[in-house]
Amino acid sequence: MAYLNLHDLEPLAQAKLPAPIFDFIAGGAEDEVTLRANRAAFEAITFRPRVLLDVSNVDTSTAVLGQALPFPVMLAPVAMHRLVHPEGEAATARAAKSADTVMILSTMSSISIEDVAAATDGPKWFQLYCYSEKGVTERLVKRAEAAGFRALCLTVDVPRLGRRERDLRHVLEFPPDVIPQNFVHEIDMSSIPMNSQGSAISAYAASLMDQTLTWDIIGWLKSITAMPVIVKGILTPEDAVLAADHGAAAVVVSNHGGRQLDSSPATITVLPEIVDAVGGRLDVIIDGGVRRGTDVLKALALGARAVLIGRPYIWGLTANGEAGVSQVLSLLRTELEWAMALCGVTSVDQVTRRLVRAPWASA
Ligand code: FNR
Repeated sequence: MAYLNLHDLEPLAQAKLPAPIFDFIAGGAEDEVTLRANRAAFEAITFRPRVLLDVSNVDTSTAVLGQALPFPVMLAPVAMHRLVHPEGEAATARAAKSADTVMILSTMSSISIEDVAAATDGPKWFQLYCYSEKGVTERLVKRAEAAGFRALCLTVDVPRLGRRERDLRHVLEFPPDVIPQNFVHEIDMSSIPMNSQGSAISAYAASLMDQTLTWDIIGWLKSITAMPVIVKGILTPEDAVLAADHGAAAVVVSNHGGRQLDSSPATITVLPEIVDAVGGRLDVIIDGGVRRGTDVLKALALGARAVLIGRPYIWGLTANGEAGVSQVLSLLRTELEWAMALCGVTSVDQVTRRLVRAPWASA
């Protein structure tokens, strides 16, 4: 199976997946303006490479929330990995461990918190959706902590699901054995028709999400867990400052890969103002449209500690299971190391805003 880069994986995955599943993963909200903008914005940034510097040894390592990373790329929370591969999140977790990086497990995972923890002892964070019934949320958090997850990543951009029209056109149905496993104890399974269990339980779990959520949730979470709280889905400096004020340990600048509010900004365009506003009070992570090592370097230059990738590793998992996810991580690491050498930097702390020219950021 020949592929040279992350882009090459998407058609390979498409060829393997039923069209509705492919579209569920690839798609965005409404006109997919934000989905396209995420990529276009990375492409609009150019480097200011410096030359005649010794770049024979390039070190891509860094640390986020005290977690050492050999390179600043982690796996974003993505629902239901068993839609694309029978080993699902267990395969993903093993690949993350081999690369010594963090996997963020979705609340809506198709393998339970405990089974993913049993698959590997690599570093894992748990992504949390909050439910109207606080007991459901509390049980999820306590289970993740007991299973050894090291941080809680609270997703705040889904007060309700984005309008993803590809899914509406197809009538997305999940195979009956692919279900959000973290909820099987919360739901009366006999009330769910067997032939559409996967989609019915997902719809049920989504319908429970708490639309009344406010900033107080961070304090409440901190009162029930010792895990640091990361807020995912921040797009303005005002909200990043509020996250810091409420005791978050990090934010993820994210528009959910263009799947929530269409016409929200490309994440990399708002990163610099967010970094400036928080002024080092918390770590800033970014996701959305990262496909190249050069994108990772651009994100670091504009102030991110690390990036998350979503769809690319799902294409890797589809194409080649655990090895496919490993290959995606290894490709990005190689490309990043290469880009750093060609830019004349040999460690991530040498990467500053002076390294790039972005239409929306001053040097
Ligand atoms: C997601 N994302 C997501 N985020 C989250 O907090 N919880 C979740 O369960 C999911 N599920 C999910 C499913 C699928 C199929 C996709 C594509 C995305 C969003 C994800 O964490 C991340 O923000 C984006 O995927 C990043 O953009 P890229 O890398 O896909 O461009």
